[in-house]
Amino acid sequence: MSQESILRNFIVFEGLDGSGTTTQTSLLRERLENGGRPCHATFEPTRAPIGTMIRSILGGGTAVTPYTMALLFAADRQEHLYAENGLAALAASGITVISDRYLFSSLAYQSGECGFSSVLSLNANFHLPEILFYLDLDPEICMERIAGRGRQEIYENLAKQKEVYGFYRQALEHFSDTAMRIVRLDGNLPIRELAENIWNYLA
Ligand code: TYD
Repeated sequence: MSQESILRNFIVFEGLDGSGTTTQTSLLRERLENGGRPCHATFEPTRAPIGTMIRSILGGGTAVTPYTMALLFAADRQEHLYAENGLAALAASGITVISDRYLFSSLAYQSGECGFSSVLSLNANFHLPEILFYLDLDPEICMERIAGRGRQEIYENLAKQKEVYGFYRQALEHFSDTAMRIVRLDGNLPIRELAENIWNYLA
C-alpha cells in the first residue's frame, strides 16, 4: 500500500477549527441516508482508546512532546482504518464513509513542530480518500467562531491557526497530482449553500 492508493467510497472534510467540517459531515450523512445510500460518518481523533488519550491532551490535561502527538494521531488513524471492521473494510463493502478530519489534519497541525516531511512519512502508508473537501476560511474568522464555544483546546489560538492554514496549503499542493480529487470550498458561505455545493459536486 502506498500514499497513491485511493480508498473508493471514502470522503474527507478538512479545515481549520471552526471552519464547519463537523456540520458539513453530518449534513452530507443525512442527505445520503435520506436518499437511501448506506453511509458511515466518523471523525478523528476518534472515541477509541488512543483518540480518547489525544482528546485529554488537547484539553490541556497532560502534556506530551510534539512528535508523540504526531505518533498518537497516526496510531489512532491506523486503528480507525485498518482494525477489524474499520473504515477501509466498510468502504470496500460499498458503504460511503465520511470522515471529519484525516491525515491532512496531521500535516496541517503537527508539521509546525515536527516538520512536514516527518509527518508525511508517519502517514505515508494510509490510503488517500477518493474526495477531499477543504473548507477554506481565514484564521481570524475561525477564531471568532471558536471563541463562541467557551472551552478551548491547545491548538485553538490565532498564531497556531495561521500556521495550520499555511501547512494546509502545503499539504493540498503536495497531493495535487494524485488521483484524489481535492475540492476547495469557500468556508464563508452560509451552511446550507455550502452543503448544496458539496451535494452538487457529488451529483
Ligand atoms: P476537532 O475536529 O476540532 O474536534 P472537536 O470539534 O471535537 O474539538 O479536532 C480536535 C483537534 O485535533 C483539532 O484542533 C485538530 C486536531 N488534530 C490534529 O492536530 N492532528 C490530527 O491528525 C487530527 C485528526 C486532528
